[in-house]
Amino acid sequence: MGMNYERINEWILTEDCPDLSHLGKCEAVMAQGNGYLGLRAAMEERYVGETRNLLINGTFNQFDAEEVTELPNAADITAVELWIDGQRFHLAEGNWEEYRRELNIRTGELTRTVSWTAPNGKTVRLSFQRVVSLKRLHDIGLKITVEAKGDPIELKIRSGIDARVTNTGSQHFSEIEKRFYEKKYIQFVERTTQSNIDFVLNAVHQFARNGETAALQTDVNIERRYIFADYSIALKAGETFTIEKLVNVQTTRDFDAAGLTLSQLQEKSLEDLKLLEQTGYDALLEESAREWQEEVWDKIPVVIKGDKDSEFDLFALRYAQYQMRLFLPRHDNRMNIGAKGLSGEGYKGHCFWDTEIFLLPYYMFTDPQAARKLEEYRYLSLPGAHRKAQENGYQGAMFPWESAWLDDGETCPLYQGTDIITGKPIKVWSGIIEQHISADVAFGVWQYGVITGDEDFMEKYGYEIIMDTAIFWRSRLEDGQDGRYHINDVVGPDEYHEHVNDNAFTNYMAAWNLKKAAEYCEILKESKPELYARLDEKLNLKENCPKWKEGAEKLYLPQPTEEGILPMDDRFMKGQYIDLTKYKQQDFVAGIMKDYSLDQIQNIQVCKQADCLVLFYLMEEQFAPEVKKASWDYYVERTLHDSSLSLSTHSVQAADMGDDDMAYDLFRKAASIDLGPYMGSSNEGIHAASFGGVWQCVVYGFGGVRMLNGSLRINPRLPGNWSELTFTLYWKGEKLKVTVTKDHVDVQNLTGTKQVELSVNGEKRSV
Ligand code: BGC
Repeated sequence: MGMNYERINEWILTEDCPDLSHLGKCEAVMAQGNGYLGLRAAMEERYVGETRNLLINGTFNQFDAEEVTELPNAADITAVELWIDGQRFHLAEGNWEEYRRELNIRTGELTRTVSWTAPNGKTVRLSFQRVVSLKRLHDIGLKITVEAKGDPIELKIRSGIDARVTNTGSQHFSEIEKRFYEKKYIQFVERTTQSNIDFVLNAVHQFARNGETAALQTDVNIERRYIFADYSIALKAGETFTIEKLVNVQTTRDFDAAGLTLSQLQEKSLEDLKLLEQTGYDALLEESAREWQEEVWDKIPVVIKGDKDSEFDLFALRYAQYQMRLFLPRHDNRMNIGAKGLSGEGYKGHCFWDTEIFLLPYYMFTDPQAARKLEEYRYLSLPGAHRKAQENGYQGAMFPWESAWLDDGETCPLYQGTDIITGKPIKVWSGIIEQHISADVAFGVWQYGVITGDEDFMEKYGYEIIMDTAIFWRSRLEDGQDGRYHINDVVGPDEYHEHVNDNAFTNYMAAWNLKKAAEYCEILKESKPELYARLDEKLNLKENCPKWKEGAEKLYLPQPTEEGILPMDDRFMKGQYIDLTKYKQQDFVAGIMKDYSLDQIQNIQVCKQADCLVLFYLMEEQFAPEVKKASWDYYVERTLHDSSLSLSTHSVQAADMGDDDMAYDLFRKAASIDLGPYMGSSNEGIHAASFGGVWQCVVYGFGGVRMLNGSLRINPRLPGNWSELTFTLYWKGEKLKVTVTKDHVDVQNLTGTKQVELSVNGEKRSV
């Protein structure tokens, strides 16, 4: 049951047997999108247990004061119900054979074919096709072909726009208007209840009988939150009937709807729908597939050669690229990437440090313009970061742990889940004390600036973010009795330990942030006096710069123990040691929470995810190899990888330490988070950051690529079963093609406008 990987070498993810008790898996991993919208792969006919999601990036709404803002689930446009001689097509009834559902990641098309015999004995061959255009951001196409096999049939079709959907119960919309135009074009308007965004959805159907356009009698129906039409037709044995459903969705939040009133948008979107109707499904698909080819596969090609296993590795890498394009808001800098991309309601569409630490590396090395938009989003959300700092008694920019719309500020829920022992709601401290996010954002900005060489960005936004976050950190430092500054009462990356003091990751990152801001202050004063003056006026650099320096110097940085282990905070190593084998063997995450309350876990040596190990590769040169090795041995034993962010960090670290087998094994596990056999893992959506992680395992880990002290370094080490790895990278505007074989590294400068200096396996080179 479930996934079949036999066609992955053809870019195809296949389900060859419908699994009606685990619908969430394929709905999420076969989702489609274009950064503007994400469409979950729920089937056309309805099932109990399904989740039908159409999410439009950036359209956040707050259901009520008790809930945080989330991406609302727009009206469903994918449902198309079929009846064969009065019997509803449904895979739990009658008999099916020759079933195949496939996502072709190369073209972006989702297809499903099945032969179905209704309980009345009539057999039809059905084929479903679906595309979300990568080229026209608002447009979606569905095509259904019904072939009457042995007998004549009476086919009935019901299709429309169905707004009877919620986000697991929370209804985010008021109905505004629903109507048919010319008894043919369906329009549904709904408005988010708090953010007042109007969504206009349009649909039109066209039919063909044996390839010839057919006109059908339309029976129109308008019900509460539901507008649809019924169509009927008699087919002779052997006849084929095709239904195309062409849909568009636009909102008053869209960039390209700026300045339009609702009625203008209704009019415009209807005109757009008529154009889409003329285009038709096949041309829409072809145009979109071309866009995938040009924008992703030709622009960011990857090659892995090796044994049979390496076919899966290449697919996993390309699948990661597919996902990272699907949820990337390349069109708009006012939004970012949700932790579940656009494939489910999990994490409410909010973005986290996942963007800067896990996803940004892929974008800045392969699509710098898109990476810039993600970082501009942080700049545009500074007002929320300032508000959060003030609310917490600090200064400067304290970025939200969970971020949604630009001025929403912190959107991390205060409570989530229930304590297994006490029965009380569990308080989520991350929104208040998981503070490393501010340094992560600054770090992302710095990396982006160095790797892309985009000085325009740095001047307009980048330097300011780094300095504004430094103001926050300086106000955050606490005086200790030892004459040092400390950062007490935080959550580090490992969320199983709350209220810890001097979390290594947090302190090192904060010190880096303070130091970098002070450094830039001095550089800009000399080299860009006008910019310095502007920033000084805004951020009082004259007074702040010396404070940042002093803060960075006096901030306590945890030091390795005698055994060389970096303590992740002041408490962890004193905790109780328990045998974690049981939890490590479970095929689901957070199993430990079923046995221990979060309060108990505080005093146990167990990590949810990589913590100070993330530091080792962000600040590679700051830690001795012995420290990395000793810390690795200590923490690996105590880590459950209960966050999808953890495996890739470990894989890169293992590759850096030269443990190739371990690196490869962890890479395979990271690649299997969504693609693997665990049927429940993706119900709430895919794990966006893990795809950045998969790319990092390959390019950072096996490819050995790193930006160190402003320079590019490539130290590759291929896994034993790979014979070749090829990838491309942008370095300061020059596109490099890197090919690694067992005994050879070839770096080509494809742009060739500037000389690129780099180090390959420790030797200085220039291309
Ligand atoms: C992890 C965080 C992560 C978040 C969103 C949590 O489970 O602990 O590190 O940012 O998920 O992916």
